[in-house]
Amino acid sequence: MNLNLSRPRRNRKSHAIRSLMRETTLTSDDLIAPLFIIDGKDKIDPIESMPGYARLSRDLIVKEAQELWSMGIKCVSLFPALDDSFKDKFATESKNPDGLLQRTIKDIKNALPEMLIMTDVAMDPYSSDGHDGLVDDKTGEILNDETLDILAAMAIAQAEAGSDIVGPSDMMDGRVGRIRLALDESSFTNTLIMSYTAKYASSFYGPFRDALDSAPKAGDKKTYQMDFSNRAEAIREIRLDESEGADILMVKPGISYLDVIKDMKDNTHLPVAAYNVSGEYSMVKAAAERGWLDGEKVALEMLTSFKRAGADMILTYFSKEVARLF
Ligand code: PBG
Repeated sequence: MNLNLSRPRRNRKSHAIRSLMRETTLTSDDLIAPLFIIDGKDKIDPIESMPGYARLSRDLIVKEAQELWSMGIKCVSLFPALDDSFKDKFATESKNPDGLLQRTIKDIKNALPEMLIMTDVAMDPYSSDGHDGLVDDKTGEILNDETLDILAAMAIAQAEAGSDIVGPSDMMDGRVGRIRLALDESSFTNTLIMSYTAKYASSFYGPFRDALDSAPKAGDKKTYQMDFSNRAEAIREIRLDESEGADILMVKPGISYLDVIKDMKDNTHLPVAAYNVSGEYSMVKAAAERGWLDGEKVALEMLTSFKRAGADMILTYFSKEVARLF
């Protein structure tokens, strides 16, 4: 007698059956594409540690945004790669209405009014110290409350240029509330805040820092970004960001932090985002280049696992590549 009454394989029998049973689907609705901007015209500046990814001049960023839009990707996250001459201690350039980022936002909005634009709020692309906050010259300490004013001004400059979603990625205490108040006082009540809620001090950001030449000049980011050994601490950050008016909460990096994504989904009713960061992209690319694994398939599997863990949206350098597969 056959006692194998329950046979899970019945539900995997064919492609059609598997599609009926599928619990998680990834679509281009879920993807946000990060883009790196450089000054100039018709310039493609490949990022060596991110194979297949390049810094693009404004005109090419607009073209790229158009292509992404045609593939169903509705949000881009913009990062300006600035020459050292634009960097100073106070990230002054971040407030410039004619700065590279602000001009690019306007260009994209002119060409594609419906494309959502997300912008990062942190000092590092503009800071001569390579930190996300203001550095005390004597002690090397990252000054929390002094940084908040700079972040608030940066967020307003981005909203003024047309950014739809500002993303504080700095991990200063109280930044979400401070930015929310500043935006509201300037009548940007409709600008969303996607908070980098649980952002860990991670070695996976290496290639991104190459792309922007933004690595810290001294020290590391461990006094503000989270210790990668911690889970409960993320819940504390969720509570704060919710009470300070965040619209979307994010976990970063992604692939080694699926437990945190799950915790976040279980502990908030706000939408949850995950950032599939530069190092995660580069690892897959490097192995794929050697023929050691199928890069596209691995990317799809990775991104689906983010969704399975509870992410509602994903920032990923694989956006375009993966959207082609849908
Ligand atoms: C800036 C910022 C970083 C990333 C996004 N915003 C780098 C950092 O915190 O050092 C990393 C993204 C990536 O690695 O893809 N605060």
